[in-house]
Amino acid sequence: MRLDQEDAASVCGDVALEMIRLKTIAQCRDAHAEGNYYRDAEPYIQKQWEGVIWPIIKDLDFTDVLELAPGHGRNTEHLRRLAGSITLIDVNPNCIEACRERFGEQRDGCTFRYFVTNGDSLSMVDASSHSLVYSFDSMVHFDSSVVRAYVHEIARVLRPGGSAFLHHSNYGTVAPNSDWAHNPGNRSDMTAERMRGFAEEAGLDVAFQRLSGLADGWGLEDLDAFTVLRRPALA
Ligand SMILES: C[S@@+](CC[C@H](N)C(=O)[O-])C[C@H]1O[C@@H](n2cnc3c(N)ncnc32)[C@H](O)[C@@H]1O
Repeated sequence: MRLDQEDAASVCGDVALEMIRLKTIAQCRDAHAEGNYYRDAEPYIQKQWEGVIWPIIKDLDFTDVLELAPGHGRNTEHLRRLAGSITLIDVNPNCIEACRERFGEQRDGCTFRYFVTNGDSLSMVDASSHSLVYSFDSMVHFDSSVVRAYVHEIARVLRPGGSAFLHHSNYGTVAPNSDWAHNPGNRSDMTAERMRGFAEEAGLDVAFQRLSGLADGWGLEDLDAFTVLRRPALA
């Protein structure tokens, strides 16, 4: 087979993208493997939940929630009071173990399931099995290639009519590269616009989106975005 220069460039481009994706998954996993972050972040969640998160998610369906990248479960503590079941999925086994220790298999009528992901897949979860996918203060670090893969997975695991609340970076408008660890707040190359494009590709509607900055407690104006995606209901 003859490979011309254009083919070679496109193959090399694909390999380079794949290397970036794998590198950023490993880097982001290892940066959050342990440390004082989880203990230090815990006291802030009450204010974030009441002031920022709840106004956006209050009308969503909490019957069967999938929380992506829960860390040590500070959001889960709020979600479990609303949900019938929560599936917790994180790339770090010790985060999943910390959540299992904290919540067990069942608490106050909410059942819990726990999985470790390879970093961009929800393959352990059945199609159309969840009413809500929730991720706060985690996806802000995920490279856009990783977010793209997760958005496709989210489209698969949501029930028709189900929603995803996603807190992600918008710092790609300033630094559109994958050097997230050097960006303010370790924000990735994601943008609100890219999220709308990934949603369209995956067949999801954008039900809500707003930028998030100083008023929400982040260090820069428009650093992040909140997006609610919706899987269209069956006709
Ligand atoms: C900054 S912590 C936030 C945890 C939690 N959401 C919170 O608000 O406390 C980031 C979390 O993302 C997880 N993580 C990092 N990369 C991931 C990936 N590619 N897929 C799933 N989880 C990931 C880390 O293990 C960690 O639990």
